[in-house]
Amino acid sequence: MPAYASSVPNIALIKYWGNRNDDLRLPAADSVSMTLNTPHVEVGVDHSDILTVSSFEFDGRAREMTMKHIARFQKHLELVKQYLTHIGMMDAIPHSIAYTIHSGIPPAIGLASSAAVFSCVAEALAGLLQQKGHNLTREQISVIARLGSGSASRSVFGGFSAMHAGKGNDIDSAYAEQIVPADYWPLHDIVIIPSLKEKEHGSTEGHALASTSPLFKQRVEDIMDHRQQDCIDAIRRRDFELLQKVAEEDSKNMHEVMKSSTPALHYLSEDTYKIIDEIEVYRRMKNLAVLYTMDAGPAVHLICTEEAKTEILHYAHSKESCTVFVTKTGEGSHQIDKPRL
Ligand code: DP6
Repeated sequence: MPAYASSVPNIALIKYWGNRNDDLRLPAADSVSMTLNTPHVEVGVDHSDILTVSSFEFDGRAREMTMKHIARFQKHLELVKQYLTHIGMMDAIPHSIAYTIHSGIPPAIGLASSAAVFSCVAEALAGLLQQKGHNLTREQISVIARLGSGSASRSVFGGFSAMHAGKGNDIDSAYAEQIVPADYWPLHDIVIIPSLKEKEHGSTEGHALASTSPLFKQRVEDIMDHRQQDCIDAIRRRDFELLQKVAEEDSKNMHEVMKSSTPALHYLSEDTYKIIDEIEVYRRMKNLAVLYTMDAGPAVHLICTEEAKTEILHYAHSKESCTVFVTKTGEGSHQIDKPRL
């Protein structure tokens, strides 16, 4: 019997950039994110003789799966088998899997679809294992998600979650956990997307270059020494001022690392910098609780409180050549009875 799950992307406040082990996606440093309430991805998994992946766009069109896509699922399944062996669940190991993916994420809007897809895959696989009487914990599901995409481990939890990088090379030495649930601190994420072009360099290639930057070592030290904890404290205390300080510092720092790696990675565009400058002026003028953060692309995520939302939406829609996507704090991955998308 197939098992189904639904999931969503997350936006990082302390960014995951660079691994200590690329093969196992073991991150070099901790990270924090806010799970979003939309757009959704749904995944169905079933036992199969051979691995197949059928993927559909948000408008129902079949999405072409390249060899690279299939290879990523193949590699993920190999790692999942390795992990299930590691935790003594050998008899739960599937021979192979048929995956069906329905993605409600419009392409290239600056929201990481791999985080939503692999958290959803992990959740659906957990459903399949459950049918055989094997119950995985949330932490174990986050490990399975991480093996497909590092940031996916955080989408296993709703609200705000933290990835613990851990140490060493054990397959489960890095995992995510929830900091607080979604209703603890509902914040909005108003995403301004200057360009709808697909990005040139995926995150996976980028992580492998992080350590070539002379700024990388210091970045890891700063996160592990204080920045991660400051971010967690800001969330627990609902201290927007502190959250703004650490999240903006971290996003800028990650982009400095990207720009100083070999080869250099430039994800931000002139429009990105213009939006940041304008927001800095606008929030000072109107005293608005809004912070900006950018992932591996030119989109600016404006995270704001309920009180600031109307003003920020007004600003976002004034950017005529940009696309605006509106989302907020939401629930993480979960099993569903049948597909809805
Ligand atoms: C900049 O999790 O997308 O969004 O493990 O290769 O899939 P892979 O990388 P991914 O990297 C995320 C990078 C980031 C920051 C973040 O989300 O923490």
